[in-house]
Amino acid sequence: MSDIQGKVVIITGASSGIGEATAKELASKGAILVLAARREDRLKQLQEEIQNGGGQAIYKVTDVTSNEQMEELAEFTLKSFGKIDVLVNNAGVMPHSFLYKKEIDDWNKMIDVNIKGVLYGIAAVLPSMRERKEGHIINVSSVAGHVVGAGSTVYASTKHAVRAISEGLRKEELINNIRSTIISPGAVTSELIEGVTDPDLVPVIEKLYEMAIGADSIARAIAFAMEEPADVAINEMIIRPTRQER
Ligand SMILES: NC(=O)c1ccc[n+]([C@@H]2O[C@H](COP(=O)([O-])OP(=O)(O)OC[C@H]3O[C@@H](n4cnc5c(N)ncnc54)[C@H](OP(=O)(O)O)[C@@H]3O)[C@@H](O)[C@H]2O)c1
Repeated sequence: MSDIQGKVVIITGASSGIGEATAKELASKGAILVLAARREDRLKQLQEEIQNGGGQAIYKVTDVTSNEQMEELAEFTLKSFGKIDVLVNNAGVMPHSFLYKKEIDDWNKMIDVNIKGVLYGIAAVLPSMRERKEGHIINVSSVAGHVVGAGSTVYASTKHAVRAISEGLRKEELINNIRSTIISPGAVTSELIEGVTDPDLVPVIEKLYEMAIGADSIARAIAFAMEEPADVAINEMIIRPTRQER
């Protein structure tokens, strides 16, 4: 029996891309899933697909930028299954632009979803994990959490923040046996690049994503981190296309 079997896992951003692939991978390994995102039709479709394949999943429409909704998501999970073993803080947006273009709404969106959403998620699950002295929080950062490129300054800042938050979390909660994992993907096929609309950056991104790898590779990395015994923490993984230079 794998160490994923029977684990109760919340996945944010489960309605597409990496979140959706992770839900399918973990369901196939016996996890009990709580799917969260804003698009209900997508969540419902994924829930049905998982259930038809013999897996277990429920969903809750959740906007990660709302602390209240993140707390409700944790409460819903605890009411439904009595525990939260793993939170996959995966929801994210990437509307790249150059700083001089002053796309303040996009900056705020990235800060709200990519940073505050991750913090609200952590805050929502920590009380029950601390009480049980057991748990695992997996935060999806990016290669942009390691490398800053022209046009990706704000996105990269948010992804650097995700790594800083994860490391702080690790140090604060190791005493409570709570594991912290940073997943840093390179170019992965998903809907993420649809958020890039700046005409100066669209061709750059399209070129980079010609080499994009499947979201299933990231899903397997997440499963690997979960499968290790509770006294082993896989703290960080970078998963790039082989041909991606930076
Ligand atoms: N694809 C890549 O190349 C790549 C590389 C490095 C890191 N990442 C990271 O991987 C994560 C997943 O992205 P992806 O590539 O799978 O892109 P995606 O297909 O666009 O998925 C993003 C997910 O985030 C959700 N989301 C966005 N805003 C939200 C909000 N306010 N509240 C709740 N959910 C929200 C979306 O669902 P709804 O719209 O239904 O809410 C969607 O399910 C992100 O953190 C991204 O930064 C991706």
